[in-house]
Amino acid sequence: ARCIGKNQERTLAIIKPDAIRYLGDIISAVYENGFTIARMRMVKLSQNEVMYFYSEHKSKDFFPRLVDFMTSGSVVAIELVGPDAINRWRSIIGPTDSQKAKEQGPLLLRARFGTDGTRNALHGSDSTTSAQREISYFFGSKYGTNTACYNDTTCC
Ligand code: TYD
Ligand code: MG
Repeated sequence: ARCIGKNQERTLAIIKPDAIRYLGDIISAVYENGFTIARMRMVKLSQNEVMYFYSEHKSKDFFPRLVDFMTSGSVVAIELVGPDAINRWRSIIGPTDSQKAKEQGPLLLRARFGTDGTRNALHGSDSTTSAQREISYFFGSKYGTNTACYNDTTCC
């Protein structure tokens, strides 16, 4: 299960507390869009855990709001695998602000399941570096490779 094929890439998706009730619809959307789920975990994050996960934003004015929201309930972390997974997942969820997503297209997942610029339903890694870090954060580093895999030697 940890081996992925040619041209496959990994990314980290998070179903945020406001979208946990749409878990089934979101997993359907994942498969409808050609992704595979490698690993998945439901967890209630502590304030410290959220602060660490989002530490690149620690000086932003929205940081306290973000920490409050992300600790308001359980989240589901999902390791997605697919071609161009990082960019493709981010384009399927849409812009950070769910209100903007609603303007761009009602099928965007942040439009369907989110509310505003904080309660936006879903996370997606923004680069190979952050995908690797974020997958390791939730699932450990042992199989947390994110480099696009071209054969079993580089994947397993
Ligand atoms: P960011 O990394 O900029 O967005 P994205 O999730 O699209 O990569 O911000 C991380 C999270 O911080 C974002 O998903 C929601 C929250 N946030 C706010 O609450 N207010 C804001 O103005 C921004 C930019 C982000
Ligand atoms: Mg981001």
